[in-house]
Amino acid sequence: MVQKELADEIVLLDVKEGFAEGKALDIMQTAALLDFDIKVTGTTGDYAKTAGSDVVVITSGIPRKPGMTREELIGTNAGIVRDVAQNILKHSPEAVIVVIANPMDTMTYLTAKITGLPKNRVIGMGGILDSSRFKCYLSQALNVPASDLQGTVIGGHGDTTMIPLARFATYMGVPVSELLDKATLDKVVADTMVGGATLTKLLGTSAWYAPGAAGAALVESIVRDQKKVFPCCVELDGEYGQKDICMGVPVVVGKCGWEKIVDYKLNAEEQAAFNKSADAVRNMNDVLKELKVL
Ligand SMILES: NC(=O)c1ccc[n+]([C@@H]2O[C@H](COP(=O)([O-])OP(=O)(O)OC[C@H]3O[C@@H](n4cnc5c(N)ncnc54)[C@H](O)[C@@H]3O)[C@@H](O)[C@H]2O)c1
Repeated sequence: MVQKELADEIVLLDVKEGFAEGKALDIMQTAALLDFDIKVTGTTGDYAKTAGSDVVVITSGIPRKPGMTREELIGTNAGIVRDVAQNILKHSPEAVIVVIANPMDTMTYLTAKITGLPKNRVIGMGGILDSSRFKCYLSQALNVPASDLQGTVIGGHGDTTMIPLARFATYMGVPVSELLDKATLDKVVADTMVGGATLTKLLGTSAWYAPGAAGAALVESIVRDQKKVFPCCVELDGEYGQKDICMGVPVVVGKCGWEKIVDYKLNAEEQAAFNKSADAVRNMNDVLKELKVL
């Protein structure tokens, strides 16, 4: 976001003493090298310094360790995200909120419920990252640049709940199913679904570069009113056959947040996968009540 100069000022906030201040200073010390001219500041827990933000990105919460699922983070992260969402509402009541903390679909649902904001102003980021991973594995299988590929992942942002839409994936307009045999395409889909887990195993914690780039792409479309279509986690009200749930679907993203849900007209198999994914996300949302955070 800093390199894209998406704002005059970006404020980092963390609870760990001095950590956000240190990150901010480290980033500012790259300004002469990376040629940006915006201010980055850090604060330990002082939300007043974030007051009046146009966009707030929630990344606070624990990441998974090797072998863990995103869902196992709920016990810790639900309390954190609830507190953070309440503070955001107090200090930046007009902000669009982007939720990244995991389990992201449930944390987005929690943020929507806790803040009571108009639904277009709460957006979960997961599908943009998963789609970028999908395009990465497709590009390796096809030996073509990832940027020449179209590919979308919808559904939940979990190893078993995400749905890479192979039928809609194309290389310069040509369906990838015409370019790859079924076994190779199936492997691309499977690798995409465990894309995050593969990195957690290698790094010992969650990934940063691709999640950061995906978050920045989303925020750019908001602040520059680009109207890009991204798969994002949004509150559904009958679209894609689901209600009272936040899940990944393609949406138009502009300055008001997500502006419109795009209907991909899923076939029966894809819709069945979406419904199954919704069941799993709904089960996770029910845990919020058990945890008494909702
Ligand atoms: N949606 C996605 O696509 C995606 C991608 C990557 C990571 N994630 C998730 O994002 C979250 C953060 O991951 P990470 O790798 O940056 O973890 P990290 O541990 O590097 O950073 C999380 C930070 O949150 C801070 N924090 C904890 N409680 C806080 C609070 N109440 N207020 C403010 N800050 C608080 C911690 O001090 C820590 O510095 C995790 O839940 C991870 O699973 C999501």
